[in-house]
Amino acid sequence: MSNSGEAELLHIFKGIPFTTRSSPELLKSLDTFDAREDDVLLVSYPKSGTHWLAGVITKLYKTQVTITSPIEFGDISQLEKLNKLSSKRIIPTHLDYNMLPPNFKHKKCKMIYISRNPKDTAVSMFHYYRDNPNLPTVDTWTAFFDLFLKGNVVCGSWFDHFLSWEEHKDEKNILFLFYEDMKKDLPKVVKEIALFLSLNVSDSDIQDICEKSSFSQMKNDTEKENSDPSHTVCALTSNRKLIFRKGAVGDWKNYFTPKQNIRFQEIFNEKMKLSKM
Ligand code: A3P
Repeated sequence: MSNSGEAELLHIFKGIPFTTRSSPELLKSLDTFDAREDDVLLVSYPKSGTHWLAGVITKLYKTQVTITSPIEFGDISQLEKLNKLSSKRIIPTHLDYNMLPPNFKHKKCKMIYISRNPKDTAVSMFHYYRDNPNLPTVDTWTAFFDLFLKGNVVCGSWFDHFLSWEEHKDEKNILFLFYEDMKKDLPKVVKEIALFLSLNVSDSDIQDICEKSSFSQMKNDTEKENSDPSHTVCALTSNRKLIFRKGAVGDWKNYFTPKQNIRFQEIFNEKMKLSKM
């Protein structure tokens, strides 16, 4: 990664790298953000299936809801824009639990955290770094692998992010989901989400939602602009076309060398000692 690129595109806030699309003033003001009791937060580390989950959730509601831009995206005027929204808000964020505006915690807003095998997340993020002009240049997979393990990437360490949220996974207002479960049995996960959000949906609604949320359908919709190509739920780009790459489980096997896999596993075992999952 070139240092000049990094200096221009990233800045560190409370020890975590953010892109300059998240202004320091906005990040500083998050603590005062006024949450509403019916806000729903959609939380993830980047490249964990955020858009997939957002697609499912918006299709579940029959009443008007707005999926906003990520709370940490933009300048200080973002908070005012969110304040002015009259409809129910689904708010995406890549913030770790400790940086979340405290008001969401006090008001016990519903929060859905989606996680993904960090090896696949790393590979997905590697491609995102390469394709996304808002992120620093990265020359090789080997170089990116090191940065990812050190947490020296945008949004910081996957391990820290996951652990900060996992600590709260048993709280009633938090639902923990896995990308791999969505791949394995999407209708089951959609039912779980509907129950969590207290939404009544029929089996045929669920079938319809699952068909419309398949990787090929969502990619097609974006290419044919059935969904706004300049709106994403990721603070790192507004270009939806960068989101739908492969949508597979286990792509890491095409990138990790045996040595890298051992190293990853060692660090995973060490860091995840604190995990209850
Ligand atoms: P890959 O890069 O491995 O393909 P996020 O939305 O958090 O940025 O995550 C993007 C990842 O989710 C990408 O992974 C993308 O292809 C995958 N994805 C998006 N929509 C999907 C869907 N409907 N089904 C499966 N995977 C999907």
